[in-house]
Amino acid sequence: MSNELQHDHPDHPGHPAHPDHTGYGTLRPDRTGQAEAFDAIGSRYDEAFPHKEGQVAATDWLVGALAAGSRVLDLGCGTGLPTARRLAEGGLDVVGVDLSARMVALAREHVPEASFHQADLADLRPGGPLDLGRFDAVTAFFSLLMLPRAEIPLALRTIHHLLVPGGRLALSMVEADVDGFAIPFLGSTIRVSGYLRDDLREVVDGAGFDVVDETSYTYAPSSADVPPEVQIFLRCTRRG
Ligand SMILES: C[S@@+](CC[C@H](N)C(=O)[O-])C[C@H]1O[C@@H](n2cnc3c(N)ncnc32)[C@H](O)[C@@H]1O
Repeated sequence: MSNELQHDHPDHPGHPAHPDHTGYGTLRPDRTGQAEAFDAIGSRYDEAFPHKEGQVAATDWLVGALAAGSRVLDLGCGTGLPTARRLAEGGLDVVGVDLSARMVALAREHVPEASFHQADLADLRPGGPLDLGRFDAVTAFFSLLMLPRAEIPLALRTIHHLLVPGGRLALSMVEADVDGFAIPFLGSTIRVSGYLRDDLREVVDGAGFDVVDETSYTYAPSSADVPPEVQIFLRCTRRG
């Protein structure tokens, strides 16, 4: 299973089909198996990861800071619990995006007042196929870790582009020095990437964000299939 990013263009090598400011160019990331894993996991995901303290605290930060009706994008929304539901209950206008059709179906059931799209977050890049407009805030909880490392700065620059100036980003990652590392996950295999915390902060800063708060949690999922992990939650604001 290849994890390499491909930059080739069949007709015009070196000439991006969709010029943008994020650096995606003609990059076509390999997503083999990633959506299928979450399709198969379905509602077992919430059973394995109950009590999402970090998501709840970061979501409450946004609800407390934003005016009612502000637009929030939940990237890699999973089942919609607790994030999209809590944001919607907080009076925010929520849009969710997830690669997995099953996750999107569950999110629609759990948060009928929000709107959800089954899409790859890379589709949101400037000039990409899915234009959802601008947002006052973005949440990306454990979704960027599903990307190859080389793509994570591009995804962050896409988020920067999707935010209004001064907009907020609530981001979480698992602390791990890995790139496209295959792990068993609730009966499937997924590939994950991560950074040690100082490196993560550097990547986030480099994509044009100020980190205003960092909190970490040692989290033990209630499944023997998933080892305990250190979760890092960053609260960020878009510079400029
Ligand atoms: C580890 S789960 C996190 C779900 C949820 N945000 C949470 O905090 O519980 C990662 C989610 O990202 C989604 N995902 C993975 N790669 C993606 C991509 N390229 N674009 C959009 N969603 C993606 C998966 O389908 C899955 O629902």
